[in-house]
Formats: sequence, structure tokens, C-alpha cells
Amino acid sequence: NERTYIMIKPDGVQRNLVGKIIARFEERGYKLIALKLVHATPEHLEKHYEDLKGKGFFPGLIKYMASGPVVAMVWQGLDAVKTGRVMLGATNPLASPIGSIRGDYALSVGRNICHGSDSVESAEKEIALWFPEGIVQWTSELEPWVLENN
Ligand code: GTP
Ligand code: MG
Repeated sequence: NERTYIMIKPDGVQRNLVGKIIARFEERGYKLIALKLVHATPEHLEKHYEDLKGKGFFPGLIKYMASGPVVAMVWQGLDAVKTGRVMLGATNPLASPIGSIRGDYALSVGRNICHGSDSVESAEKEIALWFPEGIVQWTSELEPWVLENN
């Protein structure tokens, strides 16, 4: 049962898209196993985006991400990392298909509303960084209706 770290960025929170984004993951059949609203520090965000240190847009990215609260979440289910990224769309919203979150709600790469882990390894790292307290174990009564062999 794969887990991914999904985060609603400050623009998503400011634009009141929190409920809509959560609903997409719930409706697809993913299980929410951690959730909180956090105003992250630049230091914390630099750890989250450490692979991008050195890019020209890095300072602007950290400033944007630290400009307001984000919604940090862990979603679990079949192929959560890859399918989560498909649900988000491409990094550039203009290249994102209609029906994806960025394709439906965003226009610029520096205001692209949401984050999703890009691999199972980065998901594990990001979950540990954002939820050092751990996730919540619970039984979904709906799971047998969403996943065969469950
Ligand atoms: P995340 O889910 O946020 O990690 O996005 P991603 O995996 O689709 O892209 P990537 O990890 O390469 O970049 C992280 C974030 O940096 C993007 O979501 C953008 O907000 C921002 N970013 C990436 N490339 C550019 C760029 O060329 N210009 C600007 N302004 N921002 C960028
Ligand atoms: Mg990324």
C-alpha cells in the first residue's frame, strides 16, 4: 500500500481550494492517513526542496512556499505516488491537462497550487520531514469496494 506526500501550497490555501483538492483524492479512492495546516519556515522548506538548491528560481520558490500556511497530507493507496502526480498535472500548469488540479486551477509554474512526491523514496523522505510524529493508522470500511484483493 503505497504512500505519497501531497501538499496544498500557500496559493491553494489563499484561493480556498483546500476542500476541492482533498475531495479529488477522497473521491478517487485514496485514504487520508495524515493532515495538518502548517506555516513552514524557510529552513524547513529548503530541506523539502533541497534537490533544487542552486536553481535560479530557488529563492523565489522558498519565499512563495513560506508566504502562508500549507496543507500537509499523506495519502495511501494503489500507485499513490505516480497517480498522485497525474492528478496534480505537469509542473507548468499551461502544460497540464484539463481535469488535473493544475490544469483546472493554475496558470503559472511559480503558483502551481500543489506538490506531490516524485518517487516512493522521496515520498518516504518527505513524510518523515513533515510528519515526524507519524501517520494515523485506521481501517477504511470502504477499501474492499475500492481495491480488489483487499
Ligand atoms: P513539486 O510537486 O512542487 O515538487 O513540483 P514538481 O515536482 O512538478 O517540479 P519540481 O520539483 O521540479 O519543482 C518544484 C517547484 O518549483 C515547482 O512546483 C514550481 O513551483 C517551482 N519551479 C520549478 N521549475 C520552475 C521554474 O522554471 N520557474 C519557477 N518560477 N518555478 C519553478
Ligand atoms: Mg518536485
